[in-house]
Amino acid sequence: MATKYVEKKGKFFVPTKAAKEESLAPQDIYKRAKADRVKLWGELARDGLSWAKPWSKTYEQTSNGFGWFVGGKLNLCYNAVDRHLNNPDQTAIIFVPEDVNEKPQYISYFELYKQVNQAAALLKEKGVKKGDVVAIYLPMIPEALIFMLACARIGAIHSVVFSAFSADALKTRIEDGGAKVLVTANYYSRKGKKVELEKDADKAITGMQVTKIVVDRAKSGKMFEGKADVIVKPEVMESEDIALLLYTSGTTGKPKGVMHAVGGYTVQAYYTSRFVFNLKPGEVMWCTADIGWITGHTYACYGPLLNGATTVIFEGLPNHPTPDRFMQIIEQQKVNVFYTAPTALRMFALEGSDYAKKYKMESLKILGSVGEPIDEKTWMWFFDNIGKGRCPVIDTYWQTETGSAVIMSLPGHGPFIPTYAAVTFPGIEFDVFDEKGKKVPNGKEGILMEKPPYSPALIRGVWKNEERYKKYFVGKLYNAEDNAIMDKNGRFRILGRADDVIKVAGHRLSTAEIEDAIDGLKGVVEAVIVGKNDALRGVVPVAFVKTKGDITEEQVVGKVIERIGPIAKPAEVYFVEDIPKTRSGKMMRRVLRALLHGEDAGNIMTLINPECVNKIKAQVEAKHPELKNVKPVDSKAAPVGKKEDKKK
Ligand code: WT7
Repeated sequence: MATKYVEKKGKFFVPTKAAKEESLAPQDIYKRAKADRVKLWGELARDGLSWAKPWSKTYEQTSNGFGWFVGGKLNLCYNAVDRHLNNPDQTAIIFVPEDVNEKPQYISYFELYKQVNQAAALLKEKGVKKGDVVAIYLPMIPEALIFMLACARIGAIHSVVFSAFSADALKTRIEDGGAKVLVTANYYSRKGKKVELEKDADKAITGMQVTKIVVDRAKSGKMFEGKADVIVKPEVMESEDIALLLYTSGTTGKPKGVMHAVGGYTVQAYYTSRFVFNLKPGEVMWCTADIGWITGHTYACYGPLLNGATTVIFEGLPNHPTPDRFMQIIEQQKVNVFYTAPTALRMFALEGSDYAKKYKMESLKILGSVGEPIDEKTWMWFFDNIGKGRCPVIDTYWQTETGSAVIMSLPGHGPFIPTYAAVTFPGIEFDVFDEKGKKVPNGKEGILMEKPPYSPALIRGVWKNEERYKKYFVGKLYNAEDNAIMDKNGRFRILGRADDVIKVAGHRLSTAEIEDAIDGLKGVVEAVIVGKNDALRGVVPVAFVKTKGDITEEQVVGKVIERIGPIAKPAEVYFVEDIPKTRSGKMMRRVLRALLHGEDAGNIMTLINPECVNKIKAQVEAKHPELKNVKPVDSKAAPVGKKEDKKK
């Protein structure tokens, strides 16, 4: 019988005795954190990782920033790979190709070490030096991790771009980051068809001075086979040197390059993997996130490897060729920790639960959810059908900017409550504030912000944009820009972003970025993107477009695919006469969102053009007759929200 790690106690789920006994996070960890957070991080960093030189100051806060383990030296790749060479045959990476007929590959730490050195030598040969930016545009194949680690080894800064982003999106990121080298693959497999990634890569770098390295997908996992072994010494990095750059979407149309520091990132990636997922050396972790997102960086690559564990890399989709593909992989690869996004779970749940009954998945110990709020129904489906009521579901809250998970229940501590991300990781302190940084009473909605000393992996800068970086801080607080409530027991419920950022199938997209893409179409006067709730993808973008001249829905959708990629394409397009705006010219996304959901649009008399609202309402209802019974817009109703939309 497989071990039970969770049991019901009153309304809550709590860890069993076995879970407490197996817990890598000591039972007194929160107490230690409360006593002295900086001291705790110092002890963890010293005990858990290999440093080339100890630091002189554990935490330092200056007028224009902060630093962790200041003066200390280390190498991320050394910590993730070299130091596990005493156990050379231990599997580091399991690569599962999309095609069920293509055999999975098992790459040992020794084999990984050899390949990372080869890749590092290749990068050096192409002129890459410490501090240079390398763009990585690769599918989920071992080389994605190998080249990331190779960059870390030589002190180059990798900027991974999600392989489903378009050539245009790649170009923007290469230009902003100033990458001199681009690593890509000739193709990858998607639903049995070859996606020719290299073509997009070529399009992106046309006319630019960028050297291309191409991985042959047919040889993935074996790219350097037959080549003489080489050793590239790991570059000794300052703790505060920049480890990586990752572009993410924000309030504006332009993605921002989030910068992470070597020391803090390494320490937090290591410890969150160890304490949140209770990951022991040799255990198998499968984080299903693509390497193009921070989740893939921290929990499909660095976190598990820093812990000497095995990471599963899967090239394909959750439901191809059959809806039980994920479950097959969990069973075949004996996955211990399964970390995924609510959107995948909602897709499984729609298939019912019969097909999950075929799989026992007894290797599983811990389940994790990330990327968007997980509703109670989906949480329970996950708990019952994948975890079979044995494994805790850990709802982890974090962001590209925090680098690693920051709010969750630890598996040996609990409790596990659906719709609660629960408490901050020991040594980290978030709370709920108003826009000015004044604490909001428990039980009331506000904005999630972090109090200094900031978490070790927190964003150190926005690439070439100091002004944007400053905007993250409200006085001394780091503003996560998510709405949240803290209950009377100090547990967080994360409500998500305002209108500027939407989570489509867990992917973070900026409404402004999609709007800019549509605005780029000739004949478009202006466009607004609003998130509409969706049973499967959480939220989907809907476009309201004001045009002069003939523009088709295909053109609008096509432009978005061209500029960003298929993940951002609007699910519905409304061509409207006018877009509701305030007198100061701000677009009222809130009003449009209410109309899309058949909700009361509230007081619209503060708008400069209230007459357009009923027209849009009629257009929405023509497409969705089910919304019709909602009462007409009432100009005397309570105002819509307190604040106006930020943009325009
Ligand atoms: C945004 C960050 C988390 C790393 C991967 C995504 C939302 C994330 C949760 C959660 C509710 C969540 C927030 C956050 N989010 N996790 N457990 N519950 N919302 O990183 O792409 O930078 O997105 O995802 O809105 O700010 P990201």
